[in-house]
Amino acid sequence: MVTTQATATTPDDAWGGCNPLDPAFRADPYPGLARLRERDPVNRTPIGIWRLTRYADVIRLLHAVPAGVRMTDGVLPGVDESLSNQRLFMLQQDPPTHTRLRRLVSRAFTPRAIAALRANVQRIVDECLERVAARGEMDVIADLALPVPSTVICEMLGVPVADRERFTVWTAQATFGLAAPLLPPEVIEMARAAGMSLGAYFEDLIAAHRANLSDDLLSELIRAEEAGDRLSGSELLSQAIGLLIAGFETTIGLIGNGVRALVRHPAELAKLRAQPGLVASTIEECLRYDGPIVLTARVLHADAEFRGTMIPRNAMVWGMLAAANRDPAVFPEPDRFDIARHPNEHLAFGGGAHYCLGSHLARLEGQIAIGTLVERFADLALESETVEWGASLFRVPGRLPLRFRPR
Ligand code: HEM
Repeated sequence: MVTTQATATTPDDAWGGCNPLDPAFRADPYPGLARLRERDPVNRTPIGIWRLTRYADVIRLLHAVPAGVRMTDGVLPGVDESLSNQRLFMLQQDPPTHTRLRRLVSRAFTPRAIAALRANVQRIVDECLERVAARGEMDVIADLALPVPSTVICEMLGVPVADRERFTVWTAQATFGLAAPLLPPEVIEMARAAGMSLGAYFEDLIAAHRANLSDDLLSELIRAEEAGDRLSGSELLSQAIGLLIAGFETTIGLIGNGVRALVRHPAELAKLRAQPGLVASTIEECLRYDGPIVLTARVLHADAEFRGTMIPRNAMVWGMLAAANRDPAVFPEPDRFDIARHPNEHLAFGGGAHYCLGSHLARLEGQIAIGTLVERFADLALESETVEWGASLFRVPGRLPLRFRPR
């Protein structure tokens, strides 16, 4: 957790108690976000970025007002220029570049393609749980939440799983590149160095793949690059790095925060155990109740009015997904964790053109990891009520010790 600039802890401070870098906000962002949503739903931060906290406003930002991720002159705000590996990822592009890049990989992430991975994900989860079963205790992150999505995305991309130790720290640190306007220079430098290390790693890997193309995603991207008109060499590098980071940094949080929420709500845990068919709606509720991504950013491409406040063209606006997901105007009793909640149209995966490409994969991994854990182990108990947050920018625990009894 980066604390260098953390100052805000009270609702009266300049950040309204919602400074993303404040450890207190990370520990529990929901009371502060609720206050903002009620009292100041269209809020300007001390660094000039706007924040929207009501569900209807976030939906409008993502779907209805003219907006993109770059300014109208094509400049990308918020991502440091030196973080070149990240600037070319599809998440940092507007159409037509965004459309072209997303289309190149989207076939691998369709519901049908992801459903075909089910048996493989189940095997990986079973192996993870088998390794700890006799111990009666595990670290949910190191033993399950990290290895499952990272093994899956490595296999999809064609990255050797054995190299995981090398890049896990880099991928976590590189996520800070997404929050450059907030960060002190030493943190930007850390993100830049991590991005460079990932770049060097992938350059070698791409060279090795080029000599021996197969049917993995990296080979598919290399073929598109070699065809000449669809993907440049630096775009190829950025998509590979971006997909690796996006593919597991967030899902660790879905599984970690999800297990934590279930264990802290024993009646809901018992309900899931009694009705395993509720696993899909359980995962939706985990994403709504405590999702790994608190906000997503857009840049307005025309002036837009939100609740009487005019936000100017080219202003950066954060859609506060975590606040929208607890808006009582949409979710009755929003602070209640209810695994059978229906409807549950949460915004944990964002929305519009950049809606998470990996949502089907994340859901499959979450359902199998959490569903199997609950089925196999009983008497789940967290070792501590306090969460040790991880090394990335996201809302993802670094450790989550859990005791259990094998069933
Ligand atoms: C629980 C896990 C995950 C969460 C909560 C999550 C959330 C998000 C969010 C909020 C965005 C930005 C959406 C927006 O701005 O509207 C996003 C984009 C993206 N996600 Fe995920 N994600 C998850 C897992 C994954 C996985 C497993 C992959 C697989 C590679 C993935 C790939 C992507 C990609 C490629 C984008 C950029 C899409 C674009 O710009 O068109 N994500 N994700």
